[in-house]
Amino acid sequence: MKTINVGIIGGGLMGKEVASALGRWFVLNDYPLKVVLKAVCDINKEALKWYEQIPTIDLLTTDYKALLDSSNVDVVYVALPHHLHEEYYLKVLEAGKDLFAEKPFGINLEAAKIIKNKIDESGRFVRCSSEMPFFPGGQRVIKEILSGRLGKVIEVKAGFCHSSDMDPFKPINWKRQSKFCGDIGVMGDLGMHVMHIPLRMGWKPDRVYAQLQKIVTKRPDGKGGWSECDTWNNAHLSSTISIEGEEVPMLLEMKRLAPGETNSWFIEVFGTEGGVRYSTKDTKVLWTFNREKEQIWQRIDLGFQVPFPTITGGIFEPGFPDCFMQMLAAYFAEREGFLEGRLGCVTPEEAVMSHQVFDAALKSHQSKSAIVIP
Ligand SMILES: NC(=O)c1ccc[n+]([C@@H]2O[C@H](COP(=O)([O-])OP(=O)(O)OC[C@H]3O[C@@H](n4cnc5c(N)ncnc54)[C@H](O)[C@@H]3O)[C@@H](O)[C@H]2O)c1
Repeated sequence: MKTINVGIIGGGLMGKEVASALGRWFVLNDYPLKVVLKAVCDINKEALKWYEQIPTIDLLTTDYKALLDSSNVDVVYVALPHHLHEEYYLKVLEAGKDLFAEKPFGINLEAAKIIKNKIDESGRFVRCSSEMPFFPGGQRVIKEILSGRLGKVIEVKAGFCHSSDMDPFKPINWKRQSKFCGDIGVMGDLGMHVMHIPLRMGWKPDRVYAQLQKIVTKRPDGKGGWSECDTWNNAHLSSTISIEGEEVPMLLEMKRLAPGETNSWFIEVFGTEGGVRYSTKDTKVLWTFNREKEQIWQRIDLGFQVPFPTITGGIFEPGFPDCFMQMLAAYFAEREGFLEGRLGCVTPEEAVMSHQVFDAALKSHQSKSAIVIP
């Protein structure tokens, strides 16, 4: 069986998620490729220690050049703070490797465009991470939209809500400082996840009116003092999309301070004939609406209905590691040409589009007016 060798640059939270998915690749049934983790680079030696337990790895290094020079690495997953995306994504492409990038795909719109140009120049295969649409619920929402069953679309709502920042004493980290995570703040953190399905449906906003909030502006620095927390915590984007020549409102929410929400990703699409609603808050529940004599919302308990079949029983519940693995399976399937109509990962074009929306949102908030997106 063909084997694809993977290297990771940035062995923190998400580097470990990729290692975990690749470490149990054998759960995919009849997947025609082996995908193996071979090398990990992190500037922090302590972070590398965790990877010592993975037998397939033959290179653990603090030097990214050693990883990029390795002929044993075909695809590089980069999971670094946002201010490093442009620099490292370019290095990967210059080394002649394919890239699985993390969102937000550059710290701002300018960086995203530079990365996209380099991809076009290099011809390498690049996609960006966004795993939530690979939950069975996300997959069914796409199916419902594409079925045409919903009639004329009335409105779309999508969002991603966390409550991890509700604790004002949670110490600061790079994700709460603009110089590392970008002026787009929470939009860079959660926005790509929110926009993946809308953009794939062709629903790119034509204009946006944004309300951005900085709610907790200081956090413990972890050394007994306080640090400035200068990022946008919450973003409400009221946007307009065009469907069959008609303007349709699309509300997008990205929040780090959403009381009670741990990691709730949701999407709702309402039409004149039907509707669909899914939230990871109720992971296996899909709601569908039918306009009949009486108006009916139906609750369906979805099982393990994933695009790439696994050994897991069809009625069992999926979780974050499962949808993350399905996303990786989609990346390698698309790279090898056997995606066969299944949802693919976020493309570089879509990542740039998401940045256009976030950039317009910053301008909208500043000018307190709606901004037209070119
Ligand atoms: N897809 C998702 O659901 C998801 C979730 C969280 C974060 N992310 C994204 O993943 C990326 C990384 O986030 P994270 O949560 O893993 O961060 P993290 O802080 O947990 O890990 C980053 C790692 O990069 C290392 N690092 C920093 N500079 C480096 C350099 N120059 N060379 C090599 N290693 C370096 C750090 O030591 C750290 O171990 C970000 O783009 C973030 O937005 C995605």
